[in-house]
Amino acid sequence: MSSPEVIRAPEVIRAPEDFRARCERARRDGLRVGFVPTMGALHEGHLTLAREARRRVGEGGVVAVSIFVNPTQFGPHEDLARYPRELDADVGRCATAGVDVVFAPSVEAMYPPGDQTRVRVTKVSEPFCGPFRPGHFEGVATVVTRLFVLAGACDAVFGRKDYQQWRVLDRMARDLFLPVEVIGHPTVREADGLAMSSRNRYLSVEDRLRARVVPEALSAAVRAYEGGERDVATLRSIAQAILCERADKVEYADLREPVDLDELPNALAADGRAVLAVAVRIGATRLIDNVVLGEERAPRPS
Ligand code: PAJ
Repeated sequence: MSSPEVIRAPEVIRAPEDFRARCERARRDGLRVGFVPTMGALHEGHLTLAREARRRVGEGGVVAVSIFVNPTQFGPHEDLARYPRELDADVGRCATAGVDVVFAPSVEAMYPPGDQTRVRVTKVSEPFCGPFRPGHFEGVATVVTRLFVLAGACDAVFGRKDYQQWRVLDRMARDLFLPVEVIGHPTVREADGLAMSSRNRYLSVEDRLRARVVPEALSAAVRAYEGGERDVATLRSIAQAILCERADKVEYADLREPVDLDELPNALAADGRAVLAVAVRIGATRLIDNVVLGEERAPRPS
């Protein structure tokens, strides 16, 4: 008879200097550190990143998840105040995913009085979400720099659901010579193709059904690409037309080169790749998603 798996509660750390010391101790003991920064309200997407961190650092390694709703990345009219905060439940979820350490600092600890330092990553922050969320990537880069400095040398796992964020942070870690390997893990989806997100819970039943339009639009573009379509404007309008049918607003549906997010020529090469990223509003909820044409399968099951 196999013995039931033992679920161990993670160590919860509040103070930045304690988190730094914990990660340093792990490395001194010859262990690798895997790190998954989050804002909490954890779902299967986040937990998949934690399991990927475990796979990378091995059974003996230390997997840390940070939970911090970072005020500097929210705009004045965004959902900072109502962003879900549920630390106890999140710690329980982390336990089931084998997380060793939960770092949950206060706002005052991460942004002490007198704080003045911001980190701005230039070009790669500009397209896609850039114009719609001014200051957002600066807030993300600022908090993640602080988290990386505390964590020290580690494998940091991010989701490709936030594709631009992943590219911004990878650029940032390399530009600042941070000893962090930034890993982008594929998007984890619901059975109907919708990307998992802490914000999906804001959707009403009717809006949740309408949200399927997002993976449908991406899938239509993938199928066109697989059918040989290489004209960028055509691929864009295929996605856009489907989104417009059911989303309340389409902020953008745009194709870019997948690493630096540079503009593309009018037509892709036969083996050319492009990231198609979209942002829509369904009711009051903003949803983003993406797919890399030439690399990924259609996100919507057919
Ligand atoms: P948050 O939205 O909580 O996401 C934390 C991490 O989980 C990010 O790397 C995000 O891309 C990833 N993630 C979310 N949904 C996912 C899904 N369906 N599949 C795979 N990965 C998914 O992103 C942030 O927090 C913040 O901006 C942060 C980086 C923590 C800085 O504050």
